[in-house]
Amino acid sequence: MGLTEADWSKPLIGIATTWTGTMPCNMGQRDLAQHVAAGIRAAGGTPLEFNTIAISDNLTMGTPGMRASLVSREVIADSIELVGRSQRFDGLVCLVGCDKTVPGAVMAAIRLDLPTVVLYSGAMAPGRYHGRQVTIQDVWEAVGAHEAGRIGDEELAALERDACPGIGACTGHFTANTMATAVDFLGLGPIGLGSVTATDPEKPAAAEAAGRLAVDVVARDLRPSALVTEAALANAVTGVAGTGGSTNGVLHLLAIAEEAGVPLTLDTIDAIARRTPVVASLTPGGKYVAGDLHCAGGTAAVMKQLLPWLDGDALTVDGRTLAEHAAAAPDPDGEVLAPHDAPFKPGGALRVLRGNLAPEGAVVKLAGHEPHVLSGPARVFDSEADCKAGVYDGLVQPGEIVVVRYEGPSGAPGMPEMLGITSAIVGAGLGESVALVTDGRFSGATRGLMVGHVAPEAARGGPLAIVEDGDTITIDTEARTLQLDLSAELIAARLAGWTPPEPRATSGVLAKYARSVSSAATGAVTR
Ligand code: FES
Repeated sequence: MGLTEADWSKPLIGIATTWTGTMPCNMGQRDLAQHVAAGIRAAGGTPLEFNTIAISDNLTMGTPGMRASLVSREVIADSIELVGRSQRFDGLVCLVGCDKTVPGAVMAAIRLDLPTVVLYSGAMAPGRYHGRQVTIQDVWEAVGAHEAGRIGDEELAALERDACPGIGACTGHFTANTMATAVDFLGLGPIGLGSVTATDPEKPAAAEAAGRLAVDVVARDLRPSALVTEAALANAVTGVAGTGGSTNGVLHLLAIAEEAGVPLTLDTIDAIARRTPVVASLTPGGKYVAGDLHCAGGTAAVMKQLLPWLDGDALTVDGRTLAEHAAAAPDPDGEVLAPHDAPFKPGGALRVLRGNLAPEGAVVKLAGHEPHVLSGPARVFDSEADCKAGVYDGLVQPGEIVVVRYEGPSGAPGMPEMLGITSAIVGAGLGESVALVTDGRFSGATRGLMVGHVAPEAARGGPLAIVEDGDTITIDTEARTLQLDLSAELIAARLAGWTPPEPRATSGVLAKYARSVSSAATGAVTR
């Protein structure tokens, strides 16, 4: 192994990378790990590198492979945990990038409770197409527009080539960047290092600094149990809400709270989101991308504006509090970041709905221009694929509420993201006139009125299972309700006559996951 006797008596620091050559998101991590290792050695520790898996949401979107994505979060957590338990490290650095790798590594860190630094390997640079800045979201909406005949093959191919110009995680404030923000607010991310973009020449130095920090964290014996507290989780929700983050942030923070044994409910998340102004203008809700936010001061500058709603005494991994980081951050530039007393949007972009269609809750993200109340006839599909075909075949009409069910954590299994459908809806010109209700998830790149995470899910007998074409569904985002306009008696009678569908997965990891996964309302964790 190339180690000396002396090396074994130094702090042994595991470096968990989620490197894979199958996607751009984590592709820089194999090199970055060497810089982390150099930092560990320079600070007097001994690095021991290991690797785990990653699944790209964008490469699997709209395919059966998407069912593997959320499942991978558990595998990532389990695999890092197992290596950590077997190797008896003194400390840990986790290099994370694509969506599930971030919460997966945090969950493992909490289980192991070793002094840990979670370093985000960085977002991709944005693409440029005909002089405008573009991201993967533009490609997805172009796919929908292409299917609807609104753009041709050549335009789609050109945009596809230009949108993702190198390595790194998706550059919009989709799930990866949302969770990277959350990790900083949780205190596990070294503030100012993770937000350096993947291809920034400063990234290797940031990785080396993270390695040095890891040895220091071991010396201070600062463990995730001291960082990931109830206050830190509330701070993370505030960070997600205040940057206009993805609905997946809700799911992952619930899962992290479950691991930490910290009480966090959908209602708490709704209450925090309600009071937190959106101070960052980040795509898809705003204009800018991750690199712009880093240049505007990064997470610390966001903290500076959100400080009235944060517990500023919460500690971060470098030993400084959130308030100390905020104090050293620049003022808002008015473009990427706004002052909290003149925010881009008021609070409440992320909302939790309840009602007879979602007794355990559902999650919606509002752009701000939607009608508060939307009522319409249901158009029901039993799978994502059926729905997509229905949209392309012109089956979905303006004014309808599209229901996509049996796509929850257990039923799908794996609670796939519905970006293919939402992009098809937007691409077909129906983005403003139909809403979507599903027990599946949405990508951070989703636009339109989309209610997801409906719990309990249809496959486990949630009321979504008994909705029929033409039933009236009412979404009231102001009253935070999701109602099926049928009597309780009729719903009960239909549920009594309902039989669960045959499981879609009967063997392998998906079957195991389908049996052991919890409700989306508690983070879809495996038990
Ligand atoms: Fe990996 Fe978006 S698909 S970060």
